[in-house]
Amino acid sequence: MYKTSLDIDQIRNDFPILHRKVNGQPLVYLDNAATSQTPLPVIDAIGDYYKHTNANIHRGVHALSQEATDQYEAARQKIQQHFNAAHAHEIILTSGTTHAINLVANGFASLLNQGDELIVSALEHHANIVPWQMLCERTGATLKVIPMTDAGILDMNAFSQLVNTRTKVVFVNHVSNALGIINPIEHIIEKAHAVGAAVLIDGAQATPHLVPDLQKLNADFYTTSAHKICGPTGIGMLYGKEKWLRKLPPYQGGGEMIDQVTFEKTTYADLPHKFEAGTPNIAGGVGFGAAIDYMNRIGFDAIAAHENDLLQHATEKLKQIEGLRIYGDVQNKVAVISFNVEGLHPYDIGTLLDKMGIAVRTGHHCCQPIMDFYQIPGTVRASFAFYNTHEELERFVTGVEKAVSMLR
Ligand code: ALA
Repeated sequence: MYKTSLDIDQIRNDFPILHRKVNGQPLVYLDNAATSQTPLPVIDAIGDYYKHTNANIHRGVHALSQEATDQYEAARQKIQQHFNAAHAHEIILTSGTTHAINLVANGFASLLNQGDELIVSALEHHANIVPWQMLCERTGATLKVIPMTDAGILDMNAFSQLVNTRTKVVFVNHVSNALGIINPIEHIIEKAHAVGAAVLIDGAQATPHLVPDLQKLNADFYTTSAHKICGPTGIGMLYGKEKWLRKLPPYQGGGEMIDQVTFEKTTYADLPHKFEAGTPNIAGGVGFGAAIDYMNRIGFDAIAAHENDLLQHATEKLKQIEGLRIYGDVQNKVAVISFNVEGLHPYDIGTLLDKMGIAVRTGHHCCQPIMDFYQIPGTVRASFAFYNTHEELERFVTGVEKAVSMLR
């Protein structure tokens, strides 16, 4: 029997988009790992900001500028408290996870030497591979890869062999966007720290489902994007331990990140402003804070329990379809199901699902190395959120069955 402590009907009233039709059918939105939907309290917070407060921050003595600054800094504090970072100035507001990773990778250019090693995992999104490859090209450092098993699990024995005193940075996602698997990041952080390496965790796919305690986790950097957790696009965070943020040089130069500028020399502002050149996405920051409030009002324990129910039921039902293979079918995962059906192309299944009003992602999910590992062009990926219902799950499974019978 299917139960949840969440009042899903009530929650769905906060999301107008969930009531629209697509191709004549009520929308079933199962592409939450690509972007989550935005509830009215977040839309209203952004709208209210533009209606009543809009001004540039940290610059004016006038009232609007001060109010806008207060709202933006209040959002930073909310983010700090939510993730339990030690200081608000360890939270750098970026345009998203990709920007955050590029900021760190770029900063390490001044700290690396020829012969240094970096370790990435086989399960990474391109955003946590390419910036580091660019860093290797600039510095002569070498990129090593933690391999994955057929089940989609990272090989920790192989990691133990790879990590050594030449290792300078290890970067791994908390949750794989393509497979939904939760990686053993605590173990990775401990091993990397034992040889003095820094660790960056890409948390974009973890933070919609769980709340990392950053002080306890002890990663050196942790990143996420607001739009994965019901916030707006174009805003995200880089958490960095103060000692690392002080060591890294600024990423971009411009207004707001300076202390003194002359034509001879510029000195930089203190944290967090040193990494926030130019006018930031102020309304986005306000929306990010509102999204955190919204998610906390619903409660992450209830969110996790409901999503896990959806995951277990959907997995069980999909497995009954002949020839269907789920990639990353392990216990320790979030509500993401990546699959293929023997002899069928994922795009064909995704296109037929779309005709039935069901939105899933198909393709390589910005993880070509994972697809190469399995020797497949891509997968169909259904990713659930707390506002998805059991009825939607049924429509999705029936939709896959229909698509498969049409294509066979
Ligand atoms: N990284 C996002 C995804 O997995 C876009 O779909």
